[in-house]
Formats: sequence, C-alpha cells, structure tokens
Amino acid sequence: MSLLNIISLALVVALTRAGPILNNPSRVLRRDAPAPSAYPLDSACGNEWQYLNFNTTVATDRVHLQTLHDVICGGEMRAISSYGQISAQNVNTPYKRYFPESDDEDDYPTNVKDVLGLIAGASSTDGAIGTVVGTFVVDNLDFAANVPGASDCTVEGTLAYTLEDQVDDLEKIHFCDLSWTRGEASDVDCASLDPFPSTKMDSFSRIALHEMMHYSSIGPNTPVGETIGDCKNGDSEPANDPPRVHGLLDPNQDDNPAVTEINADSYAWMSLDAWMSQNCIAGSDTNNWASFFTQNPPPYNE
Ligand SMILES: *[C@@H]1O[C@H](CO)[C@@H](O)[C@H](O)[C@H]1NC(C)=O
Repeated sequence: MSLLNIISLALVVALTRAGPILNNPSRVLRRDAPAPSAYPLDSACGNEWQYLNFNTTVATDRVHLQTLHDVICGGEMRAISSYGQISAQNVNTPYKRYFPESDDEDDYPTNVKDVLGLIAGASSTDGAIGTVVGTFVVDNLDFAANVPGASDCTVEGTLAYTLEDQVDDLEKIHFCDLSWTRGEASDVDCASLDPFPSTKMDSFSRIALHEMMHYSSIGPNTPVGETIGDCKNGDSEPANDPPRVHGLLDPNQDDNPAVTEINADSYAWMSLDAWMSQNCIAGSDTNNWASFFTQNPPPYNE
C-alpha cells in the first residue's frame, strides 16, 4: 500500500472550494450512548441505524427520519451494496471501471467484495442490512463544530461527514441539508442517463454508502486493513464523482490503483453504477446488465 493523501472523512461536492473552517467547540453535557435503533416514527427494521437529536415534532426532522428509515428498511442500501458486491465478485465492467484486478500483492476484487458484504449483510440472517449498520449512529446536529480541524456543513458543498464527536466520544454520521435533496435510485429516469455513469444517477443511498464506508468498523475489519477515507486525484482535488473515481484508476489519468480500495466514493459510485446498470438495462438483456453503460466517464480534467 502506497502513502496516501487522505483528507478529512467528509463528502464534499468536488467543484466547490473549502472556505475557512469555523470551529465552535462549545461543550455540552455528555450524552449516553444511544440505545439500539429505536426508530421514532414506526417500528425499526433489522439493523436499522440509530438516531440522535432528531425532534419528531419538527416536520423537516420527520421527513429526514423517514428517508433514513426507508433507505435501509425499503431495501435500497442492501440493493446497491449487493450489486457492488456482485460486480466485484464477477470482476465485471462496473467493478473494473473503478477498481483494479488482482495482482501479486493484493486481491483487490475480494477486498472490495468483503467490504461491501459487511454493509449488505446476508438476507437470511441479517434483517434489512448488515449487522454492523445497526451500530451506526446518525446525529441530526452538525457536530463537526465540536471536532477541531473538521469541516462542518457551513463549508460550501459539504454533503455529509463521519467523525468521532469529542463531546460524546461516539463515531457518528451527519447529513448536511444538501444531501437530502438526492432522491431514491429507483426514481432516476434511465432514459435521461448518458452512455457513461454520471452524477445524473445520484441518490441519497450513494451518499449513505459513502459515509458507511468511513466507519472504523468497516475497512479495518476487512482485508483492506485500514480506514476507508477520501483520496485525492493528481490535481489534489477530492476524488469524489464518477469521472474522478474512474480517473484514480485509469492508466491514462492518475494510474493510482492502490488507493482506490481506500477511497469511499469509489465503492459508492461503483455500487450505484452496478445497481443502475441492472435496473436500466433493456428487458431482454438482463444477463448483460454490466454492459449497460457503454463508455467510461470522461477524463476529470476535461
Ligand atoms: C422540538 O421541537 C418543538 C417545536 O419546535 C420544540 O417546542 C421543542 O422544544 C423541541 N424539543 C427539543 C427536545 O428540542
């Protein structure tokens, strides 16, 4: 594994520039760790994530809780992570657009398959999603303000982040306002897509999968062996969208295959690409879903 250039574990829209970071380390009383998934609007499904600081009398909070519930309990998280897993197992086109084939040192496809398998879990034993997801906490507070050096949602373009909050010592996810505007993967109009994967197919589940990748219980508990962060392209901008995650691997662009397995957005876009491909392939051609997108994304610097 080569030396890596990992920035903070935040998902930031690639084209925006980070502004000055405002830290406001106001200390509040230490909260107890949340109890396992007490979904406040309806019953929780198996391994649904846990929630902090949502106020169920506030309409916006209720809508957000419903989105968080639906993305797991409606099966979309398992669907996209499973298709990513299948693509890695078969080493077919979506996988190969973002990750290397195995070499003498690393069995990359198996590593990627194992990482996504932790999230997806097994439908026979794990309820709606992998067991580990039930340990994840989503905090409705923009708590990065408690974490020195971390970017909170006031940094333009920030979609979400995963950090350990120094106030309660919990590793948690926060979704910024921008992320809630992304819809369900199944709502994407297949006819509107380009012949290559693009942000036109983006979904809330892709952002959620990106953040799940960052948890310290994921990368270190797989053959990857380390936290899955946010890597940068050759131009020092975050490798964060389809052209950039493809560009990390592409021999004609960054040609940096080793870092792909520790870049969260590579997993997220590969999985969405695979799911979208099987969802959008024309009816009679379902065995050929991996070739739905006939082109790779254009070079990131074009
Ligand atoms: C929840 O929101 C309501 C309505 O805005 C407010 O009156 C109440 O104090 C809030 N509860 C908490 C615990 O913040």
